Amino acid sequence: MSGSGAQTPVPAPRASGAAVAPSAITHLGPELVERARALIALYPERRSALIPLCHLAQEQDGWLRPEAMVDIASLVGVTPAEVYGTATFYDMLHTEAVGTHVVAVCTNIACLLGGAAELLEHAEASLGINVGGTTPDGVITLEEAECLADCDRVPCVQVNHRYVGAQTPETFDRLVADLRSGARSDDIPSHGTLVRVRRTVGLQADREQVAAERAAMADAQAARAAAASDAKGGAS
Ligand code: FES
Repeated sequence: MSGSGAQTPVPAPRASGAAVAPSAITHLGPELVERARALIALYPERRSALIPLCHLAQEQDGWLRPEAMVDIASLVGVTPAEVYGTATFYDMLHTEAVGTHVVAVCTNIACLLGGAAELLEHAEASLGINVGGTTPDGVITLEEAECLADCDRVPCVQVNHRYVGAQTPETFDRLVADLRSGARSDDIPSHGTLVRVRRTVGLQADREQVAAERAAMADAQAARAAAASDAKGGAS
């Protein structure tokens, strides 16, 4: 569901694939880097924070810029190509520029029966772009989506992953006008902002307890593997 346009080249690593010092981070802002480090601290392994950090970078830039991917790679200790490879797997992460508002029209079966194809056709005509395109003013990117899990309000439309209810061609045009004028900025922030609330407390789980449970799990796995191996040996 990523936007259209020229393919973004895979960002080149800064130093032969090796993680660089966090002080070398050049694109992500200081406040964001601080939040990134707090997120990384929640995980036993730095690379587990890769996707949350991609969302942070999207919050800053609206999409995942190549230079942001290089910074994320440095922070989590992987190569930029790994960040790119992971990001391109997920619909919510955009490795190409998108508008400040990504409008997704569901065309899955319930919505299709409720007029989604006609709505999408109207959206393309009224915005002057094809699906996957962005309006010249950079405000709207139009996407066609699979089921958005709001099948009783069809055709279902989301803007920046917020439900805006079933739309007709008329209400769709009003919605776009409101997005352009900023009238919906309270409930629909710019693309990339998932939430406006910030975590104010650390990890609630007891780290020692988590470590003990992981160790017990590993022991149980090893015991099961050994039992399976014994059973195989006895059968042969
Ligand atoms: S089919 Fe459109 S939201 Fe489920």
